[in-house]
Amino acid sequence: MTDVSSMGPQPGDERPVLTNRQGHPVYDNQNQRTVGARGPATLENYQFLEKISHFDRERIPERVVHARGVTTYGYFEATGYLGDEPISRYTRAKLFQQPGKRTDVAVRFSTVIGGRDSSEAARDPRGFAVKFYTEDGNWDLVGNNLAVFFIRDAIKFPDVIHALKPDPVTFRQEPNRIFDFMSQTPECMHMLVNLFSPRGIPADYRHMQGFGVNTYKWVNQHGETHLVKYHWMPKQGVRSMTVADAAAVQAGDLGHATRDLHEAIDRGDYPEWELLVQIMTDEEHPELDFEPLDDTKVWPEDRFPARPVGRMVLNRNVENNFAENEQISFGTGVLVDGLDFSDDKMLVGRTFSYSDTQRYRVGPNYLQLPVNQAKNADVRTNQRDGFMTYHVDGAGENPHVNYEPSITGGLREAQFPTHDEQGPTITGRLTRKRIPRTNDYKQAGQRYLLMEQWERDDLVLNFVTLLSQCERPVQERMVWHLLLVEDDLGLRVGEGLGIGPDDVSHLEPLASQDLTDEDRERLAKLG
Ligand code: HEM
Repeated sequence: MTDVSSMGPQPGDERPVLTNRQGHPVYDNQNQRTVGARGPATLENYQFLEKISHFDRERIPERVVHARGVTTYGYFEATGYLGDEPISRYTRAKLFQQPGKRTDVAVRFSTVIGGRDSSEAARDPRGFAVKFYTEDGNWDLVGNNLAVFFIRDAIKFPDVIHALKPDPVTFRQEPNRIFDFMSQTPECMHMLVNLFSPRGIPADYRHMQGFGVNTYKWVNQHGETHLVKYHWMPKQGVRSMTVADAAAVQAGDLGHATRDLHEAIDRGDYPEWELLVQIMTDEEHPELDFEPLDDTKVWPEDRFPARPVGRMVLNRNVENNFAENEQISFGTGVLVDGLDFSDDKMLVGRTFSYSDTQRYRVGPNYLQLPVNQAKNADVRTNQRDGFMTYHVDGAGENPHVNYEPSITGGLREAQFPTHDEQGPTITGRLTRKRIPRTNDYKQAGQRYLLMEQWERDDLVLNFVTLLSQCERPVQERMVWHLLLVEDDLGLRVGEGLGIGPDDVSHLEPLASQDLTDEDRERLAKLG
C-alpha cells in the first residue's frame, strides 16, 4: 500500500498548488496535526478546521419549489416586429426593437415539487425561467411548460404547494391530500386536465413549450398599454412520456433531462425556441366569458393570435452547478422599461415572493453574484453592507455619499421615461372578492375535446389510478367536477371508480364557486 503521508510534490509536476482560502499553501492534505501519529488532534489545526467547517456549510436551503433544475446560457434574437407590425407600436422595450438584435440570456428549466435530487421524469409542471441581460438591466420571464396554473390568487399558493408536496407525517406524495385540496378548488380543473394528460410528463427540457402564464403589460413610447401573454415554442417539437415511459427512464437515471440538455449543447446541437406573444387591449373585455387576468385561462388564439417576436438559442453549459444553477435567482418583478405588470392577482403575490425567498435562500446580496448581476447595464445603488457584501455597487464620485439627494457628489435620479402615466384609470373600494367570470370548467372541457383519443385515454387512466387511492367523498367530488368539465371525461373516470352520475347528483355546488348557465344545465342533467 502507498504511504500517502510521505507523498509530496513529484519532480516535474507543474500543476497549480492547493492552498486554503487565506492563500496559504497546503503541504499535507492527508493528515491532521496530532500529538504523535496515534495521539489526540490539536485545536489550532487551522487548515483542517477551515476545510471541515466550510464543508459543513456547503448546502444552502433548496428552493421551496422548483428545487431540481438545470441552467444554460444563450441568446435571444429579436425580429423587431410583432407578426408583421413594427413592435414599437406596442412596446418600447429596447431588446425587442431592432431586427436581429441579440440579448444574452440564462435559462433555468426545473421540476416543481420534488427535492434537489428528485426524478426528472415525475408528473409535475416544468419551470421555464429566462433571464435576459439587457442594456436596461435584467428582465426575468419566469414561466412554466403548461399554459395555465392551478390557482388564480396568490394567497392560495402555500396551500396548493402543501397539498402537492409530501405528507408531513408519511413524507410521501399522497393522492388523497392532492385531490382533497383540488376537489375543493374548482379553478384547478383546467390545470389538472393538462397535468394528468401526457403533457404532464415532458420527454425532456428540449422538447417542451414555455408559457409566461400570467398576464403582463407592454408600454409604448406614448404610454399606451396592452395586455400580453408570452409563449415559447420549441423548434425541436413537443414530446411527452406516458407513465410507463417515465418509469423506464427513471429506473436508469433520475436526471435524464439535465443530461440530455448538457449533452445536446456539448455536441453543438443547440436547442432553439421561438417567442410568440398574444396581445389584448388593456381593458376588462366584457365580451369574453372569462377574465383576461385569470391565469387559469388561455386566450383563444383565433381571436388573439400568437405572433412571433424573436427566437432563443441555448449554446453554453454552466461551469459550476452551484454557482450558476443553485444560486441563480429569478423573479416576476424583474422588468425593464416598456414591460410592466398587470393586476393579475397571482402576479403581485409572485413578485413579492421571489425576492423575499432569495434574500433568505441565497442571502441579502444575492444580486451581487455574477449569474444574477445585470451584466449588460450599469448598477449603481446606495444599498450597502449585509452578509457577504462582495463589492460596492458603483458609488458616485464621492465614496462618502451613500445617500441621495446630496450636493456633494453621489448618485442622481434618472429622468422619467417620456410618458410616466400609463394605462387605464382604475377606481374601486378595498375588498376581498373573487374575480368575476370565474368560468372554471369550460376551457378545461375544450382542452379535453381537443385531445387525441390516446391522450384522453391516458388522462382518464391517470385520474383513475390516483383517485382510486383517495377517500370516497374526494372521489365523488372529483367525478362531479369532471362531469361539469365534459360528460365523457366525468363518465369515464366515474366508471373507473365505480361512481355514476346518480351517486354524485346530491352534491351542491361549493360555496367558493360561481356556476355559469352552461354549468347549471349540465348539473340539471345529473339530477
Ligand atoms: C420558483 C413562488 C406561481 C414559475 C418559485 C419560488 C417561489 C415561488 C418562492 C422559489 C424561488 C427561488 O427560490 O429562487 C410562487 C408563488 C406563486 C408562484 C407565490 C403564486 C402566487 C408560479 C407560476 C409559475 C411559476 C404561475 C409559472 C408561470 C416558477 C419557476 C420557478 C419558480 C419557473 C423556478 C425559478 C428558477 O428556476 O429558479 N416560485 N410561484 N411560479 N416559480 Fe413560482
